[in-house]
Amino acid sequence: MELKEQILKILEENRGNSVNGALMAKELHVTRSAIWKNINQLKNEGYQIEAVPNRGYCLKESNDILTSQSISPYLKGKATNFILDVRKTVSSTNTLAKEMAANKAPEGTVLIASEQTNGRGRMGRSFYSPATGLYLSLILRPKLSIEDSLLITTSSAVAVAKAIEKITNEDVHIKWVNDLFMQGKKVCGILTEASLNIENGGLEYAIVGIGINVNTKDFPSDIKDIAGSIFLDKPKNQPITSILAAEVLNNLADSMDKLTSKDYLEEYKKRSFLIGKDIYVLKEKKVFPAKAIGIDNRARLLVEYPDSTKEALTSGEVSIRTDYLPK
Ligand code: BTN
Repeated sequence: MELKEQILKILEENRGNSVNGALMAKELHVTRSAIWKNINQLKNEGYQIEAVPNRGYCLKESNDILTSQSISPYLKGKATNFILDVRKTVSSTNTLAKEMAANKAPEGTVLIASEQTNGRGRMGRSFYSPATGLYLSLILRPKLSIEDSLLITTSSAVAVAKAIEKITNEDVHIKWVNDLFMQGKKVCGILTEASLNIENGGLEYAIVGIGINVNTKDFPSDIKDIAGSIFLDKPKNQPITSILAAEVLNNLADSMDKLTSKDYLEEYKKRSFLIGKDIYVLKEKKVFPAKAIGIDNRARLLVEYPDSTKEALTSGEVSIRTDYLPK
């Protein structure tokens, strides 16, 4: 760890309290001026650090810059084993995580960013990813067949919905497969990408990419009617984005552990607002009217077409025919 990161770790561990510069210098075996220089660098990077006369340096409670040091204190259980790689700006956490997975990064590696310049969505779309969001990708190496990979996506949707709900106290609903809605607006998208092991038909690795609009206010015109944020204004005096990231990871660790038990599917169904609705199914660039009649135990969306034929959808895109969205 670089000296700057070591200092940040100490400040994080004492967030809200002052840490004596001389004591820090002694503990890290460096001079006080090296401490001072690195503190200034951190301040220049935007960290809210106060120099309190005669007492030392204090990282303010409200400092909400994502770092592995800011997230780690909130991790619990199996999530403490995750390997965090936290960066400020990346092209796409999914693109990078795929490269890392192809280069043998272990299961549980998580790439987290505050901003993406080339965030990717489903169906080849882009995902608007300004610095007011949370973007993360988790590398998994599950023992699942490609058919069962829908379980990863849908259980992640439940894990993230629960995390957002805990942090905001607002209900979160799911639009199959994995769009999360709050007060009728999409606040989170999930993109799961997988690499197939041709020899055994299983998954070589899977990447679960999660993008949450934390407090984005100005969305581009093409999505401004659909997209929303989980907060109008972020709560102050706590590192809320770090707490959210940790909560998401805690829930993901928990749910990935029991994917095949499918217990989460009941919760998925309860949160799903498509069931019983008239929808459009978008397939091969064509649009088919249908009714969403259920979700089966493989997380497939069951639809019925006007001629009474039924289908279980494993992927693709659906949209509601009315304007109804849960408020
Ligand atoms: C969608 O709504 O179509 C899915 C959006 C998924 C966005 C996340 S943000 C983190 C990860 N990196 C990406 O480039 N995409 C996913």
